Amino acid sequence: MALRNILNLNDAMDAEILRKKSRPVEKIDERIRTILDDMAETLYDSGGVGLAAPQVGILRRIVVIDIGEGLIELINPEILETEGVQEDAEGCLSIPGKSGNVARPERVKLKALNRNGEEVTYEGTGLLARAFCHETDHLDGILYIDKATEIWEGEE
Ligand code: NI
Repeated sequence: MALRNILNLNDAMDAEILRKKSRPVEKIDERIRTILDDMAETLYDSGGVGLAAPQVGILRRIVVIDIGEGLIELINPEILETEGVQEDAEGCLSIPGKSGNVARPERVKLKALNRNGEEVTYEGTGLLARAFCHETDHLDGILYIDKATEIWEGEE
């Protein structure tokens, strides 16, 4: 396993990558599993709750999340259903030193593939629902600052 460098929106070259749309993973092999392992290690090292592959310079639809309830690995995630609305502060590892208020669904149902290529579904509320939305947005080059009603200095 290896730590990966997290791209920073303040860097022009990093920003260009963060704004690109990621491609689906077509074949889940050892290379993809290594990326998952490295992303998890990088996430835990960062102290964040979620990390998307484009944030480490890989334009593939891969996400890792841990809100303190165990690691969730998502390959080619797709949001199936959303319900309700919650408005709360969020931040992003690629936008250090800032936070913003973002409205997100209160409940999110999502499907994805796991590291063995099996289809898995997750249902999350609160912070997990927020993380599902924030991280899948990254795969389309969308950042929370695009949706925030208010942005301020300081990390959440
Ligand atoms: Ni982020």
